[in-house]
Amino acid sequence: MKQSTEELVKRIEEKFEAIDQNPETHLEGLVWAKPITYWDYIQTDALLALQTQRTTLPDEMVFVMYHQINELLFKMMLWEAEQVTKNNELTAPFFAEKLDRISRYFDMLASSFSIMQNGMETEQYLKFRNTLTPASGFQSAQYRLIEFASTDTINLIDFRFRATIDRNTPIEHAYEHLYWHAAGKDHKTGKKSTLIRLFEEKYKELFLRKMEEYNTTNLYAKFKSLPKETQEDPILVKAMRHYDYTVNVTWVMAHYHAAAKYLQPEGEIVEATGGSDWRKYMHPRYQRRIFFPELWSEEEIKNWGENC
Ligand code: HEM
Repeated sequence: MKQSTEELVKRIEEKFEAIDQNPETHLEGLVWAKPITYWDYIQTDALLALQTQRTTLPDEMVFVMYHQINELLFKMMLWEAEQVTKNNELTAPFFAEKLDRISRYFDMLASSFSIMQNGMETEQYLKFRNTLTPASGFQSAQYRLIEFASTDTINLIDFRFRATIDRNTPIEHAYEHLYWHAAGKDHKTGKKSTLIRLFEEKYKELFLRKMEEYNTTNLYAKFKSLPKETQEDPILVKAMRHYDYTVNVTWVMAHYHAAAKYLQPEGEIVEATGGSDWRKYMHPRYQRRIFFPELWSEEEIKNWGENC
């Protein structure tokens, strides 16, 4: 409904008076304000100034920019997830819509992995990767935050240690047994790789804080706190299952196939920049990461990541 100028001015006055501001000063400011432009609003100059290569090889730019696109989409996913994790009046349609949004972003990343798989020359990749060792996409903090926001910590614990960990386990102990430590630890000596050591120096504190925060508010916990009939809503269940599958199987497999192209050229296995035993570690069959285990049958869980 269109408001009269008088009504608008009244609302502006009320808004600024409520925060002890003189409305006239703010109205006067509007007289001198610059009109907004696309480039100021979207901050295109700042965004497009962030692509820096370490080598002269042109395909490195594809690699850098595609990772940046991933990080932007991870941020969009966390934005949607927060609207569920911080919501105490969830309904099935709202929950399902937010999950579908996150899934759409992940579906987009999975289907666009061909930008990595077919978009670079192997010879160039094998050269520029030497300048980014020991870094790896493994060190994407937002990817880990998405995991913490999605499920109970127990579902992110390495399978070999699950029986020894429960809700009463101190958070730091649980953290040390997250599945992804398997990629960066020498299991004989227990020594952490440089990949993980640097990752932890930067993010461990944040991770512990977020694990605590999401302990009772993650997507799975929120789902389980809903009334039984809401939990059985077929649209919500479908959205939960789709999200779980697209993150933990579809994307993981797209990533695995891209990695295999560069790290196993002509059958010869190349060591990953992050140093993991990547062929074993990266496969969903090995990680068996499932965000919402109660929404899958025993058979489906048993065959997780098979036939794909
Ligand atoms: C040619 C492209 C890529 C290759 C060869 C590749 C390779 C690898 C390898 C080998 C690992 C295991 C850790 C290690 O030893 O480094 C890994 C982990 C990871 N990469 Fe990539 N990657 C590629 C593209 C990407 C992209 C575009 C992203 C998006 C951000 C990404 C995100 C990740 C994440 C999140 C992990 C950890 C996954 C987990 O713990 O299960 N990677 N990658």
